[in-house]
Amino acid sequence: MTSERKSIHGQWSTRLMFILAATGSAVGLGNIWKFPYITGENGGGTFVLVYLLCIALIGIPVMMAEIMLGRRGRQSPINTMKTLAEEERRNVNWIWLGRMGMVAGFMILSYYSVIAGWAMSYIFRTASGVFVGATAEGVSSIFADLVSDPEKLLAWHTIFMAMTMIVVARGVKHGLEVAIRFLMPALFALLLLIVGYAMTTGHFMQGVSFMFTPGEISNEGILDAMGHAFFTLSLGMGAIMVYGSYLPKGTSIVQATMFIAAADTIVALLAGLAIFPIVFANGLEPGAGPGLIFKTLPIAFGQMEAGTLIGTTFFILLVFAAWTSAISLIEPAVAWLAENKGMNRLHASVWTGVAAWFVGLGTIFSFNIWSDKTWSIPYLFKDYTLFTTLENLTFNVMLPLGGLFIAIFAAWLMRESSSRDELKTYDWIYRLWRILLRYVTPVAIIIVFLKAISII
Ligand code: PHE
Repeated sequence: MTSERKSIHGQWSTRLMFILAATGSAVGLGNIWKFPYITGENGGGTFVLVYLLCIALIGIPVMMAEIMLGRRGRQSPINTMKTLAEEERRNVNWIWLGRMGMVAGFMILSYYSVIAGWAMSYIFRTASGVFVGATAEGVSSIFADLVSDPEKLLAWHTIFMAMTMIVVARGVKHGLEVAIRFLMPALFALLLLIVGYAMTTGHFMQGVSFMFTPGEISNEGILDAMGHAFFTLSLGMGAIMVYGSYLPKGTSIVQATMFIAAADTIVALLAGLAIFPIVFANGLEPGAGPGLIFKTLPIAFGQMEAGTLIGTTFFILLVFAAWTSAISLIEPAVAWLAENKGMNRLHASVWTGVAAWFVGLGTIFSFNIWSDKTWSIPYLFKDYTLFTTLENLTFNVMLPLGGLFIAIFAAWLMRESSSRDELKTYDWIYRLWRILLRYVTPVAIIIVFLKAISII
């Protein structure tokens, strides 16, 4: 019965197509913008180690579970959870897992688009040659000028959101293949090139030791590392679930997951290795926050041979990487609107995109006219702007919570025969997966949560 269920939205044409799309979703601003800056803020070393552990012990098993649930349910995450809960004779309230994911995706998209807008504007800044020979201060002040100008940010945010809506309206499958097949390897090659440059700065080893020498880490740092493992692999909100719902039956979920997780992790580590040597060579602060890549990489482009060309291409590729992630952020909502509200894809994407665009204004203003509008809750957080609130709520709360419930559903509530049938892998891999998902993943998520609110 389940094996015959079909997605009304169609299927990936090939197995490779799914891997490309899911890798496109995973590799994005999270790897190149976010990973370096939160690594810097959390002091490197131990943070990177905890992040890698979270990828291995939490991210990979949850990704397999999410793809599996999606492929079995073959609908938007909300309807998938409804169907699977009925089929496994569980409470219908599991539908809330899909709902929370849809809202999280929408909230993430609202700020993701603003940051992608920064990257877009850097295509033109780099191309204009302003960074040639620029000093660290010069580069930082160019960044400060950008984020203090709400009109500029608004224009780029609008363009990026429109680009996202157009692709989603056409259906995620069209056009994506070319984008990912050629551009991702190109991004990878350019990153290697920048790492090569970083090696010439004389501070490469300092960067390496910052990233890999264990040191202190705070409880919030551990929470950030876990949240980031979910964010960077696009887990906990249904993006990978909805992509899984278009996956042909015969494809190995285990192999696909390993490939996606490896590619994603390598890109993040390369981004770190490219950026931290530049940070130290120029006396910058590793904890400079969300502007870190925009304050460091342009220095490198300004000094490298053919840096203007390399830098421009780099930002173009970064925008593509962000684009292929952004489309997966609204796909759960669009699939659901198409299934339940009878909308066509065009209407569904326009509605969702416009709404996320509107919420994105809050993020834009957080960097300028509302930058002093902050709030705090004692013991939980301090001086959050609207942007940091959205960022932390999605990243540190909603995604890990989504992951926790996915683990519980897939490993405790779903019948073993169902998950075995779907995963179809060697017995030892299946057992290892189930043990990790039953015990390690939920316990780890709960401990990190409790630690972060300082209960244990
Ligand atoms: N994984 C994406 C990135 O690293 C962001 C993302 C999160 C995409 C959640 C989809 C879902 O940039």
